Amino acid sequence: MADDAPRAPGLASAGTFRDRLRGCFAAAFQSLASDGIVAIDAAEIPTLLEQVRETADAKFGDYSGTMAMGLAKKAGKKPRDLAIEIARHLADAPGYAEAFAPPGDPVGPGFINVRIRDEALGAAVSAAFRDERLGVPGVAEPDTIVIDFSSPNVAKPMHVGHIRSTVIGDAIARILGFRGHHTITDNHLGDWGTQFGMILWGWKRFGDEAAFAADPTGELGRIYRTVRKLADGKPEEIAADPSIAELAAKYPDAGREVLLETARLHEGDADNRALWERFMPACLGDIERLYERLDVRFDHTLGESFFQPFLAGVVDDLEAKGLARESRGAIGVFLDGDDKPPFLVRKADGAFLYATTDLATIRWRLEHWKPDRILYVVDHRQGQHFDQLFETAKRWGIDGVDLVHVAFGTVLGDDGKPFKTRAGDTVGLESLLNEGVERAAAVVAADEGLSLEERRRVAETVGIGAIKYADLCQNRTTDYVFSYDKMLQLTGNTAAYMQYAVARVEGVLEKGGIDRGALRNTATPIVLADPKERALALEIARFGEVLEDVEADYRPNVLTAWLFDVAGCYSAFYDALPILKAPEPERSSRLALCDLTGRVLRKGLELLGIGTVRKM
Ligand code: ARG
Repeated sequence: MADDAPRAPGLASAGTFRDRLRGCFAAAFQSLASDGIVAIDAAEIPTLLEQVRETADAKFGDYSGTMAMGLAKKAGKKPRDLAIEIARHLADAPGYAEAFAPPGDPVGPGFINVRIRDEALGAAVSAAFRDERLGVPGVAEPDTIVIDFSSPNVAKPMHVGHIRSTVIGDAIARILGFRGHHTITDNHLGDWGTQFGMILWGWKRFGDEAAFAADPTGELGRIYRTVRKLADGKPEEIAADPSIAELAAKYPDAGREVLLETARLHEGDADNRALWERFMPACLGDIERLYERLDVRFDHTLGESFFQPFLAGVVDDLEAKGLARESRGAIGVFLDGDDKPPFLVRKADGAFLYATTDLATIRWRLEHWKPDRILYVVDHRQGQHFDQLFETAKRWGIDGVDLVHVAFGTVLGDDGKPFKTRAGDTVGLESLLNEGVERAAAVVAADEGLSLEERRRVAETVGIGAIKYADLCQNRTTDYVFSYDKMLQLTGNTAAYMQYAVARVEGVLEKGGIDRGALRNTATPIVLADPKERALALEIARFGEVLEDVEADYRPNVLTAWLFDVAGCYSAFYDALPILKAPEPERSSRLALCDLTGRVLRKGLELLGIGTVRKM
């Protein structure tokens, strides 16, 4: 077959092995069709190519194509017989023989198993070893992607619930950016809602100037907690605390008055505006400190307040287009017919809602950033809000942008209920991080060779890494149980284990006095003679595929699972084979593999927002 045979669209010739193999399968489908064996529509090909995946068990080869079972009926053949035909055409596909061993006989009902040729795998990891990007190809067509994440309501202290959006959103942004997309991160702060009304109302009644001067967020937090109980608290909650009960008796109408303060702020009342401007820096300062500690940065922090000037226009426009209409004084978009509750954009008292701001925000982002996608990394409990938001946006004429709710589950305590302190309060993010670091200090304090200052830094990196990793390694849509003990274990799928693996890999190079720059400049190719070397190289060569899979479903846990596999393969390699004591050329080849493993693990952790240490 000629080398210029048509390729499936979008498949570059020198991508990952999986891309290359999929390109070969695509060519095979075309020749199967032209030979009259089975008719395959071009439109069908992407779905069929998704059925080319890595095998679960190495004894079946490296990749497996499972489409014969689904296609057999249409071909009028037994799956196995069709698989034989596919395999025959696959072997003839351009580029196949350079990279892959001839496919053997299909196994089972018709699995086409493929193994990368050892020389091709060796060449790929040798190239990765010399490559800044570690052999990870960039996407062919970069998208502009807005990632809306963290986005806390700022007048209250950040708590454990905020960790997920912050950590998952940051990892996704890092990964998409490394893949070559143009990412725009935006912290959509809740800086304009009812929680500010609570603070304004409380401050005017029992604010303490001296306390605010000494510890602004402490004082605002106190006010917030008090007013929240007064305004929203259950009767037994109020009765349980004498100081609250006393205030409740004094201010029986707190709930309504709080809403009035919020409305006054929104209407531009000078006093409330001045207080808001005074409180905001304190709120932001606190949050900023946490982001710094978490090593999370945003390109933009356009909070809800930023979009206030546009809200009336959004409602007018929705009305003018006949999408929104009045209902009992309020204005809403009736998405599911007249008898179902509408998506409210203005309340009867004239106040705009969370939804109104989100609509204005979409329009603003489209106008200014022209994104191909907007990702909202937000708690799954807001699922209905986003369903309605996206549907309204579509009817409003917003198209050409993919709006995605990247939802996540709840952080639970040992008791299986949402994670709380013993006293029943939500756990503040700051104290959560402090405790993680403290406990990490106890685990990593063992290394005598570290100074006190170094130990402190190691504990910070390990403690915060543990908390992040414990979150990221979960399937994001499920709830998970928060456990310091588990997350700080030195074995198992934890940050500490991964950080330890990096330190161990690099320890070998250090022990041998190896100059890594010089090592990369020598011409030694990586040779995969031993199965353990091959297994490690194969994992490393999959880095690009793994990141593609993370993007496909916005799941960082695909990356953590792979890092764990890489570390496992490294252990097996390290335990079985001599490195520094090996004769040449194995010694150089294995040292190169060590260097590459260390860089790959470090990069993987970096993409998760997790730091590494030299010693621990
Ligand atoms: N501030 C909201 C909350 O804490 C989350 C905002 C998410 N982003 C958005 N565009 N709605 O629940």
